[in-house]
Amino acid sequence: MTKLAGKVALVTGAGRGIGRAVAMKLASEGARVFVNDLDAAPMQDVMQAIGDAGGEAAGLAGSVTGEGFADELVGGALDALGGLDIIVNNAGYIWNSTIQNQTDEQIAAMLDVHAGAPIRILRAAQPHFRERFRAESAAGRRVVRKVVNISSMAAVYGMPAAVSYAAGKGAVVGMTNGLAREWGRLQVTVNSVAFGYIETRLTQRFGDTAHPTIEVEGRAHKVGFPEEQQEDLTRLIPLQRLGTAEDAANGVYLFCIPESDYITGQTLVVGGGLTTG
Ligand SMILES: NC(=O)c1ccc[n+]([C@@H]2O[C@H](COP(=O)([O-])OP(=O)(O)OC[C@H]3O[C@@H](n4cnc5c(N)ncnc54)[C@H](O)[C@@H]3O)[C@@H](O)[C@H]2O)c1
Repeated sequence: MTKLAGKVALVTGAGRGIGRAVAMKLASEGARVFVNDLDAAPMQDVMQAIGDAGGEAAGLAGSVTGEGFADELVGGALDALGGLDIIVNNAGYIWNSTIQNQTDEQIAAMLDVHAGAPIRILRAAQPHFRERFRAESAAGRRVVRKVVNISSMAAVYGMPAAVSYAAGKGAVVGMTNGLAREWGRLQVTVNSVAFGYIETRLTQRFGDTAHPTIEVEGRAHKVGFPEEQQEDLTRLIPLQRLGTAEDAANGVYLFCIPESDYITGQTLVVGGGLTTG
């Protein structure tokens, strides 16, 4: 099946976890994929994996929060792959603590990586989307382009010790709804996918060992759940398991295919039926 043949997709944070699975899924359906990640090595790895599977990928490493990076990213995709039809704003991470311990830097970082950077990327893509819409409508063709912004159940249902993360992910929903109305006339659908608990390095389980950390831009952040807590959590999920990165990617994929051409301004929760943060 190649439902996305002829399309070019841009996926941020595609070096690992959900973003990697999204890039692989879109490529497996025929899209040429422009990948991005903060870390160059895993980004090169996903490009290689797409190529090995018979697909085509190019990429640009760097932080989506970097000054001027949004323009570089969109320009890079257009230069390398000659178009842009799908944008998946996925890059993100957790920097959690109770509110009394949140620093100004932490608040700004969580709002910027999850909301500011996607807005700048979409702003950078607007001239291309407008120009393509004008050319296609003048030729009597309707071509629907797609934006999928990654949110979280933390935004929909709340999550303790994650106030800035949840605020950033909540802003994703507001931005999605606003842009869906603004870009409908350009035939661009804008939707968001809010994940529950998906198995990636952010949700890794740990036993008696020290709390695992990930490094993002030179700073270590605690991630994961103690085994017992993860077992309790799994019991609360109606489908009785955490999602895989592929489950998550399938949710994003639904908003990228022609069957969703008349769906915009929606938030899809992919959480195994869980209705609490
Ligand atoms: N895993 C979950 O349960 C879960 C739940 C809800 C939402 N999410 C969201 O899904 C998205 C993907 O998370 P994941 O679980 O796959 O995490 P992950 O850590 O496995 O992968 C995220 C990737 O994004 C990259 N990244 C982080 N900051 C970046 C930046 N500033 N610029 C470019 N790349 C950057 C990382 O290097 C990493 O490769 C994130 O936005 C996350 O908040 C995840």
